[in-house]
Amino acid sequence: MAAIWEDMVSLNSGKEPEFNILPPAAQHYEADERKKMFDHLDYREALARDTWPLPETQNREGYYGPHHFSFWASGFQDAKNLLDVADKYGVQVRDYLDIGCASGRVLRHMALNERGIRAVGCDINRLHVEWCNLYLPPQARVFHSSTIPSLPLADNSMDLVSAFSVFTHIEAFETAWLAELERVLRPGGLAWLTFHSEHTLTDMNENWPLWKPVMNYPNIGNVLDAERKFKGNRLVVRWQNERSYASNVFYKTDYLKNVWGRFFKVVEVRRRFPQFQDVMICRKRA
Ligand SMILES: C[S@@+](CC[C@H](N)C(=O)[O-])C[C@H]1O[C@@H](n2cnc3c(N)ncnc32)[C@H](O)[C@@H]1O
Repeated sequence: MAAIWEDMVSLNSGKEPEFNILPPAAQHYEADERKKMFDHLDYREALARDTWPLPETQNREGYYGPHHFSFWASGFQDAKNLLDVADKYGVQVRDYLDIGCASGRVLRHMALNERGIRAVGCDINRLHVEWCNLYLPPQARVFHSSTIPSLPLADNSMDLVSAFSVFTHIEAFETAWLAELERVLRPGGLAWLTFHSEHTLTDMNENWPLWKPVMNYPNIGNVLDAERKFKGNRLVVRWQNERSYASNVFYKTDYLKNVWGRFFKVVEVRRRFPQFQDVMICRKRA
């Protein structure tokens, strides 16, 4: 099918969804061979409370392959980390936004949390948006956004914003995205933004999800040296040119601290937290 104009700035706008859904997370627990990874978390109550369906692997960006419980638990872990950091910095979370939420891996946990959080998500992929609005609990609402940095949300309306594995794929207008996130956050509000750093490249091995897309990139030998280091402040590995969400982006951490630090106060940088990507925890200045 010829490209339609919406798909210059979003994905799957013209597609009508046909989803098969999976039973709730508790039903996948026994069969999941990777569940031990999450043994350190106290997820029992949340697991009992979450009676909502799970997306099939193909409807969740491939996350955790056939390990459906692990997919659920990874979202639980990320939501817990968000709330722990909000508590640490004394932010009461009433309104939460997850940009690039896909089919709600993290959003579902924030919506189901006992704190009564109003959870909003957005994604450029219409199929993800449809999935969320069909199958997530009604406390979550999700809108279809575009790669143009503009959110239909009021100034100073969010206490907490997250972008998990999104700035890792934004190759254009990232500073406008920062300005947009700063606009919607309340003064003192927090942003949790994951990124690929120079360390991501040197740390990664064949078992990382990132390995194949980066190492199979046709010109990778021209942009990385033998130690997998790159020159300059930013490396964009772009595998398709004619559509959105088509690249992996890496930054030097000091460069990001400087640039993101102009939009927010950077309060923490955590490396490989909790798994592959680094995270910059930012705070809107009062
Ligand atoms: C690697 S997935 C991560 C999904 C989800 N955040 C998670 O951690 O499970 C990246 C998601 O971001 C979306 N995306 C990419 N660029 C975006 C943008 N500029 N605005 C909103 N969503 C975007 C993609 O459609 C995709 O669903």
